Amino acid sequence: MQITLMIVCVCRALNTAKVNDAIAAGARSPAQVHRHHDTTINCGKCCETVCGMIREQKGMAAMSSDQQMVHAE
Ligand code: FES
Repeated sequence: MQITLMIVCVCRALNTAKVNDAIAAGARSPAQVHRHHDTTINCGKCCETVCGMIREQKGMAAMSSDQQMVHAE
């Protein structure tokens, strides 16, 4: 399987793996994602994408706990 990394933030060269790492470490906003990598928001064009990735991971986390509840019953 080939893993494709896309640049999310052109200004700070943050790719999807870096954004996902920050989210996994607890980042819940674009500013927190940047802070995790010792950068700051520059133009802000990545913020919408980063917010979407945060929402997506929250949804996946919720799905995982729902599935855990089903298995526990
Ligand atoms: S693309 Fe992320 S700050 Fe510009």
